[in-house]
Amino acid sequence: MKIVILTGAGVSAESGLGTFRDTDGLWTQYDLSEVATPEGFARNPTLVHDFYNARRSNARDAKPNAAHYALARLLQARDDVTLVTQNVDDLHERAGATGVLHMHGSLMQALCAACGTRWPAPDAMQPEHACPACAQPETRPDVVWFGEIPYHMDEIGAALEACDLFVSIGTSGEVYPAAGFVAQARAQGTRTLELNLEPSGALFDEGRYGPATRIVPEWVEGILKG
Ligand code: APR
Repeated sequence: MKIVILTGAGVSAESGLGTFRDTDGLWTQYDLSEVATPEGFARNPTLVHDFYNARRSNARDAKPNAAHYALARLLQARDDVTLVTQNVDDLHERAGATGVLHMHGSLMQALCAACGTRWPAPDAMQPEHACPACAQPETRPDVVWFGEIPYHMDEIGAALEACDLFVSIGTSGEVYPAAGFVAQARAQGTRTLELNLEPSGALFDEGRYGPATRIVPEWVEGILKG
């Protein structure tokens, strides 16, 4: 049974990393047009680097939680599971997951906007940092901003088409193209399951609700027991 899993900020919430749209979410504290768009970066690169430097530091201080470890166990036990995440933290990897498709990029990577080179992001990035390859001062966090094309979409589309079960974990289903995956799965007759703190409102065949650190390990153990 081929499984595609999509995670969102809710899977890292119990590791202390904020979500975006919950009551005290990041988008209630920051104007996303200023810190998560190419236009915002062009207007004020220092503000944007400061925003991601703070999130990188929080992510580095955070620890994977039981949901991250359970998903890593599932990936280690089966070769027919594809893990796609909207998250830019590296908690899935630090829990032992490999091959995670970061469709919105990664806080832990830097990207040169001039030549496309990527390298491990330093703790604090500044606008004047030069690219190690082309020396241009065009470096940015390797994070996909609103209005930009998410990464790995071909691979994700192929995995979705081939899967027998689509599981959405810890996401509000507000941002496309990720928010469209469940409808694509349903349209092709794939079974769909939502594991979330509360119903996102999207249509799933089945939903299990509660904190990810409880409901994700429970679901994984059920799958591993077969
Ligand atoms: N356990 C499970 N689910 C949780 C928990 C928890 N402990 N805490 C919160 N959630 C759920 C919320 O109910 C909500 O449905 O996680 C979801 C978080 O939703 P958002 O804050 O919208 O985060 P996400 O869906 O990942 O956002 C998608 O939007 O801003 C962009 O690029 C950003 O990747 C992000 C994308």
